[in-house]
Amino acid sequence: MRLKGKVAIITGAATGLQGSVMGFGGAAAWRFLREGAKVVVTDIDSDSGQATVSQMKTSGFDAEFMYHDVTNSSDWERVVADTISIFGVPDVLVNNAGNSARFNVEETSEEAWKQQIDVHAKAVFLGSREVIPSMRMKGAGSIVNVSSIYGLVGSPTVTAYHAGKGASRILTKSIAVQYAKDNIRVNSVHPGYAVTPLTNNFFEESEQRKWLIDRIPVGRIGSAFDIVPAIVFLASDESSFITGSEIVVDGGVVAK
Ligand SMILES: NC(=O)c1ccc[n+]([C@@H]2O[C@H](COP(=O)([O-])OP(=O)(O)OC[C@H]3O[C@@H](n4cnc5c(N)ncnc54)[C@H](O)[C@@H]3O)[C@@H](O)[C@H]2O)c1
Repeated sequence: MRLKGKVAIITGAATGLQGSVMGFGGAAAWRFLREGAKVVVTDIDSDSGQATVSQMKTSGFDAEFMYHDVTNSSDWERVVADTISIFGVPDVLVNNAGNSARFNVEETSEEAWKQQIDVHAKAVFLGSREVIPSMRMKGAGSIVNVSSIYGLVGSPTVTAYHAGKGASRILTKSIAVQYAKDNIRVNSVHPGYAVTPLTNNFFEESEQRKWLIDRIPVGRIGSAFDIVPAIVFLASDESSFITGSEIVVDGGVVAK
């Protein structure tokens, strides 16, 4: 029960249906519940979000689904206010929502650029701005930002994704320094290649799979269950002396 009594908001967590491939947010939500937290699952995918939360409730857990576009400030206001009225002040915010745009520089439209920066960077700013006042009044909080190894190193494509994930990493450190004295910790997790609903089709393709596995020192592609423990650790009080830091969970890719 490493998160006993904590209230957590996890964005982009709709993909947590038992029996299907889970995303990081959905798998994290289940793990948070099993560790004793109350969890607000948010996403733009209401059907999957409702179905996931319905399984969680049937299993006896305290979970709620809320529709939430993380790029929209009024959605953030509503989600945080409703979380406070249902479960209480959030102790943990996991900024996990995201998607990808596989374009090199010349192929990247201004719309794709904006969408990627909004979902990966602006959302971290909006979410932090919304939860910090109540966390400060409570005297504690942990914000975990799911960045990527693509926020640390380059690759042949996903230009705007790299920019957004890099921004999420440095924004993490900026917010951490600003609010350390308020006992609000902010850290980033940098997953490597993992099979989730976002990557499943792409990683299944055999040439792509071989290219990936050749790049991963441990010799396998990860899953959400490889990434979630780092999120739980940063959310929990076990990491109380860790802020403005980053955990890379990638089977050794960026160590090379
Ligand atoms: N899978 C990987 O290999 C990998 C590697 C590094 C980082 N990541 C990052 O991990 C995070 C989770 O991705 P995942 O692979 O678990 O995929 P996923 O598709 O399971 O999760 C992403 C979720 O975000 C939601 N979402 C997208 N835009 C949104 C918005 N504007 N508002 C709210 N929700 C929105 C989607 O509906 C989806 O449910 C993402 O930020 C992704 O960039 C994934």
